[in-house]
Amino acid sequence: MNLAELNKVARAMTAPGKGLLAADESSGTIKRRFDAIGVESTEENRRDYREMLFRATEAMSKSISGVILYDETIWQKAKDGTPLVELIKKAGSLPGIKVDEGTKPLPNCPGELVTIGLDKLADRLPKYHEQGARFAKWRAVIDIGPGIPSYACIRANVHAMARYAALCQTAQIVPIVEPEVLMDGGHDIDRCAEVSEFVLKEQFQELYYQRVALEGIVLKPNMVIAGKKSAKQASVEEVAEKTVKVLKACVPGAVPGIAFLSGGQSDEDATAHLDAINRLGPLPWSVTFSYGRALQAAPLKTWSGKPENVAAAQRAFAHRAAMNSLAARGQWKQDLEKKAA
Ligand code: 13P
Repeated sequence: MNLAELNKVARAMTAPGKGLLAADESSGTIKRRFDAIGVESTEENRRDYREMLFRATEAMSKSISGVILYDETIWQKAKDGTPLVELIKKAGSLPGIKVDEGTKPLPNCPGELVTIGLDKLADRLPKYHEQGARFAKWRAVIDIGPGIPSYACIRANVHAMARYAALCQTAQIVPIVEPEVLMDGGHDIDRCAEVSEFVLKEQFQELYYQRVALEGIVLKPNMVIAGKKSAKQASVEEVAEKTVKVLKACVPGAVPGIAFLSGGQSDEDATAHLDAINRLGPLPWSVTFSYGRALQAAPLKTWSGKPENVAAAQRAFAHRAAMNSLAARGQWKQDLEKKAA
């Protein structure tokens, strides 16, 4: 393992004013997104949609440090035959790959999931590296509800995560460590803080046991936020303060960068929260975005599967990317949203 090189990649992924585009929706997830805009989820449509994003040159080169790809996409070619990974590299961005194989119900833990995909991972990683991937993603999901999460669920997930991270570093790939505490429930922000803190403490302990070099990872956490169904929603300032408090208590300064998931927040909330978090700086790590929905919702809707909408969709993507780039520096202002394309 060349740790200096891993650290360089991790720092590039979270470089000032830049963040990650999560475009790694699994076949099932992208079908749901396409269903919502009335587009059939064929291999060609998935390619066209993602090609549209990767060819948004200004957004990509100014704001997007790396793109998380799904297995299908990393092997795909653009309409003109250029490999999609080459489009990403040409824009000065790093290709990355989602390597987990989704979730399965965790035995004896009703309603809880464990992320799978370790079995052949050591064989798969060198192939992804050869194809250009310099970082990978593995997402664990921790749900909050009556009586959950269980310790068993947290332990199983952080253990698998640490095994994945160690395998990635051995293959000279930076692991994104993503233990996501879901915001789907009716819990309040303090319950989210309590669970997020517990999960992160367990996660970093397990990374230590598995001898993962923290200088060569990127942490992708949830923000500390009230559940979507909670009647008691927190202010932007409260989200920022509680998120920073939990992260400072749990994330060693050896970690070069933190890139949040958006998790179902509205586009503007995800930007406002990231901005408010960075305004609480200086922080021990570079803090940015690794958004899927909060970067793609607007361009996806604008595109709606029609070639004539490509330019407008790219503008919508460029706008969200620019707003999040400002937020990553703590320089976003709400009135900039009105000037949207
Ligand atoms: P969201 O920003 O839509 O949560 O997606 C990020 C991601 O990669 C989730 O694993």
